[in-house]
Amino acid sequence: MPTVTAQGQTIECEPGANLRQVLLQHGIALHNDRSQWSNCRGIGTCGTCAVQIQGLVSETNWREQTRRSHPPHSLMQDRRLACQTRVLGDPKVTKFDGFWRQDELICWSADG
Ligand code: FES
Repeated sequence: MPTVTAQGQTIECEPGANLRQVLLQHGIALHNDRSQWSNCRGIGTCGTCAVQIQGLVSETNWREQTRRSHPPHSLMQDRRLACQTRVLGDPKVTKFDGFWRQDELICWSADG
């Protein structure tokens, strides 16, 4: 069973589970401020669910590549859209500051 580690929690999930859904279902604050209410609900267009991931997850799909290729995101930045990411191994997740999670200031890491 894959295990997601985020904000000090360790969460077991099904292989292939959607990372955004796993985090939200366990009360992890994925979205910041206004983006809690003004996000695309996981269709990959708003870019407010960007996180840094260490561990095995799905490859980027065309939706994610399209959104992350537009500012403030960049395909050069080490971020993934949680809503477009499937959990395959045991990823550790870090969230950053900024409306789109584009900043370098860490909000929370895998350890808390
Ligand atoms: S929730 Fe909008 S891109 Fe992920």
